[in-house]
Order: sequence, then structure tokens, then C-alpha cells
Amino acid sequence: MCNLKINSVLFLVVLEIFFVATAAFDETCESDREMEKQCRLHNYKTVKPLLDYFRQVRNELEDKEIKENKLNELNADLMEKYHEIVRIHDKFMNEAALLDEYKNKVLKWENDLQSCQNKAYKFESEINSKQNIIVKLKGELADKSANLENCELQFKNLNLSLIEKDENIKRFSENIQNNIKHQKTLELKLEKSKSILIKKDKDIQLCQSEIDTWNRTSENIREQQKKIELELKESETKLIDKAKEIQLCQAKIVKLSATSCIPFRDSDVHQLNVRGIGLFDVLCDNQLAGPGWIVIQQRVGGNESFNRDWATYRKGFGSYRSDFFLGLEKIHRITSLQRFELYIHLVALNGSTYNARYDDFKMSDEDSGYKLSLGKFSGTIIEDAMRHSENWKFVTFDRDNDIGDGNCAVIYKSGWWHKNCYNCNLNAPYGPNLNWYVKNKIELKEAKMLIRPKEAMKK
Ligand SMILES: *[C@@H]1O[C@H](CO)[C@@H](O)[C@H](O)[C@H]1NC(C)=O
Ligand SMILES: *[C@@H]1O[C@H](CO)[C@@H](O)[C@H](O)[C@H]1NC(C)=O
Ligand SMILES: *[C@@H]1O[C@H](CO)[C@@H](O)[C@H](O)[C@H]1NC(C)=O
Ligand SMILES: *[C@@H]1O[C@H](CO)[C@@H](O)[C@H](O)[C@H]1NC(C)=O
Repeated sequence: MCNLKINSVLFLVVLEIFFVATAAFDETCESDREMEKQCRLHNYKTVKPLLDYFRQVRNELEDKEIKENKLNELNADLMEKYHEIVRIHDKFMNEAALLDEYKNKVLKWENDLQSCQNKAYKFESEINSKQNIIVKLKGELADKSANLENCELQFKNLNLSLIEKDENIKRFSENIQNNIKHQKTLELKLEKSKSILIKKDKDIQLCQSEIDTWNRTSENIREQQKKIELELKESETKLIDKAKEIQLCQAKIVKLSATSCIPFRDSDVHQLNVRGIGLFDVLCDNQLAGPGWIVIQQRVGGNESFNRDWATYRKGFGSYRSDFFLGLEKIHRITSLQRFELYIHLVALNGSTYNARYDDFKMSDEDSGYKLSLGKFSGTIIEDAMRHSENWKFVTFDRDNDIGDGNCAVIYKSGWWHKNCYNCNLNAPYGPNLNWYVKNKIELKEAKMLIRPKEAMKK
């Protein structure tokens, strides 16, 4: 009786658990705990009556020994019952194993459910993105439809212009047909022209042959021209050479016919050619007072005697490298040709140098005694000492042209334009008489007289 009761109770419990597990997945853990509780309770309930029974039997044994045999019987029965309990226990263990299996199944279902849920979430997000795309596409669709409207408008316009073009094409084709007709007439004309051209070609060939002959002759002419040109060039160079020669010659002539030192731009001896005398040497000076001066008298400490007769003074004497006098006749002839200026260079005994200038220097002819003319005075020396001799004749020891009773040329051992002797005498012997003297006497150790055309230097 008790065995059956326990089995049916256990079976019911297991069934109940199974239904609870299948009915509600979410409450698995909760149901597990409950199931365990119930299990413990059922075990207890099944064992408790047995224990009570044992106690009762023990009490009966203690009470009566007679009851020992009964007890042995009861023991055997107990053993049987015990084996029964063991069997029930094994069965119970089997049931528990089954329960574990169900539990695992439930867990598996749970996992499946979770993955299913995840899939559901994924689908949801995908649906959301698709929806967004759809919204975008809708917007695009609206744009496209607007474009489509524009396109339609354009198309209509194009269709209109196309119709116009068609009309134009019709007109053009008419024109083309006209042109084709015109072309045919032109072609006819062209053929005519061609025949004319062929004739012309023949003419041209004739012409060309004529040109060739002409070309040959013209080449000859060209060669001759070249020859002539070469000859011309040669003669030109010759001419240039000749011109140069002529220039040189002219320069020579100029120099040969020089009447002053202007053409000679150096300080050297050159030839002058003066009417009435011809060619003669002069010493030119370009340094003392500029270019173009003729030195007519020079005292530079030489040993030349200036105590000379009329003829010697007339002719000139001394050396151009030292002291000299150019000659009265030459000076007269030179200064007769044009206006000359006189430059007198003076070196005092203490080394100071001075100059005296006269702007219209000349001398009269021999018959008038080579009378002296000076013009205006200027210069670095203060006193105009030459003025004393102006308009006075030249005096030598053998020609006494002075005022005094005696002969100044004899007294002072020198030819000069003595009046009542002198204020200056640049021909005097070296010493106190060689001086420049009006109120302040300057004794000299050197003196030079130079002349140059006045007008020539103005140019
Ligand atoms: C173009 O225009 C002509 C005349 O308006 C019409 O007959 C024709 O159907 C049009 N073509 C199209 C393609 O719309
Ligand atoms: C003349 O002849 C030269 C050389 O033979 C040639 O180069 C040139 O073309 C000719 N000119 C003409 C007009 O024929
Ligand atoms: C003066 O010079 C000349 C030539 O230069 C010379 O022959 C002569 O002896 C010199 N006389 C005196 C006095 O120095
Ligand atoms: C030379 O003497 C003059 C007059 O006595 C004077 O004016 C001048 O300075 C002197 N020159 C020299 C270089 O001494």
C-alpha cells in the first residue's frame, strides 16, 4: 500500500515539474528551487511513517520478550521492506537523472530563444536602415520628377527648333540642286578654259626658251658687271690711297708753305716758306706759352756773342740749341704777312720768371731801319720796359741809328733798338746790363722772344 502511494506521488511530482518547465521558460530557476524543496519534502514524508513504525516496534519489544519471535518475523518483513526502499530509492535516482536531462533541454531552449531574440534585433536595425534608404530614394524621386519636367520642356523646345531645321534643310536642298545646275555650266566653261590653257602652255614654253636664251646672255652681262664692280672697287681703294697721299702731300705743302709755327704742334726746328726769302729753318715752341710760337731770339746762358754787325743781325746768327737771333729781315718778312703777337719770357737772377706780351708786334723794312712796333702791353712783369724802343730803328756798331752822340751798340756791345740807349736790352752781354728796367731794375740770366699769329689763335 505505502509503496504504491509513494510511487504515484513521485510520478505526480515529476509530471508537475515537467508541465511547469514547458509552460514557463522564464521561471526556470524559480521552479528548480521549488522542485528541490518539494523533493526533500516528499522524501521526508515517505520515510517518516517508517521511522514511526520502527519506534512502535522497539517499544513493543522492550515490553515483551514473547514478542521476540514476532519481532524476528517482523525483522524479516523489515528486511523485505528495506529492499523495497532500496528499489524505490534506485527508481527515484533514475527519476532524478531524467529530471537533469529535462533541465539541460530547458537551458538549450533558453539559448535558442536568446539567439532568436538577437536575430530579431538585427532584423529590426536592418529594417530601420532600409526605411532611411527608402526616405532618401523618395527625395531623389521627387528631384528626378522635377528634372523630368524640365527635360520635357527642353524637349518641346528642341522639337520646335528641329522643325525649323527641317524647313531650312528643305531650302538648302533646293539651293544645292540649283548649285548643281550651276556647277554643270561651270564645268563646261572649265573645259573650254582648259583648251585655252593648253594653248597658253605652248606659248609659255616658247616664251621660256626665249627667256633661257636671254638668261644666258644676261648671265654673261652679270659676269661682266661683277668684273667691272671688282675693277671699280680696286680703283676705289686706289683712289682712297691716292686721296691719302694727296692729304699727306697737302699737309707737306702746308708745312712747306708755312709762314708760322701754327701747323707744327711740337717744339722742334721746322721750315717756313716766306715770300721774299724762301725756305728757312725756325725753332718752334709749344710749351712756354701754348702752341704755335716762333722763337726769334734766345738767351739761355750760351756763349754766343751778340756784338755783331748790321749784315749779321740782318741775316741772323747763333744756334737753336743755345743762344741765337733769327735775323731782322726774316722777322720783318714774317710779321708783314699777318698780325703777330710778341711773348717775352724772362728769368731773373734769383730764379723768378716773368712774361711781357705785346699784341701787335712787327718791324718795318730794312730801308726804314727795321723800326719796332709793339701794340698793347700785358703780362706778369709790372713795367713796360720795351715801350722805350717803340718806333725806333735797329742799331749796330756799324750802323748808328740812335739819338745820342755816341753809339749805344758800341757802348753796350750789342745790336738793339737803341734810342738814347735803352730801358731793356735782351741782346746785352750776360751781367748787370742784361736787365728789364724802368724804375725797378730786374737783372736777368735768361730771356726769350717768341711770336705767333694773333688771328690764327682766335680760331
Ligand atoms: C513635335 O512637334 C510636332 C508639331 O508640333 C508634333 O506633331 C510632334 O508629335 C512632336 N514630336 C514629339 C516627339 O513630341
Ligand atoms: C637663269 O639661269 C640660272 C642658272 O642657270 C637659273 O638658276 C635661273 O633660274 C634662270 N632664270 C630663269 C628666269 O630662267
Ligand atoms: C762757344 O761754343 C762753341 C760751340 O758750341 C765753341 O766752339 C766755343 O769754343 C765756345 N766758346 C767759349 C768761349 O766757350
Ligand atoms: C726775386 O726778386 C723779386 C724782386 O726783388 C722778388 O719779388 C721775388 O720774390 C724774388 N724771387 C725769389 C724766388 O726769391
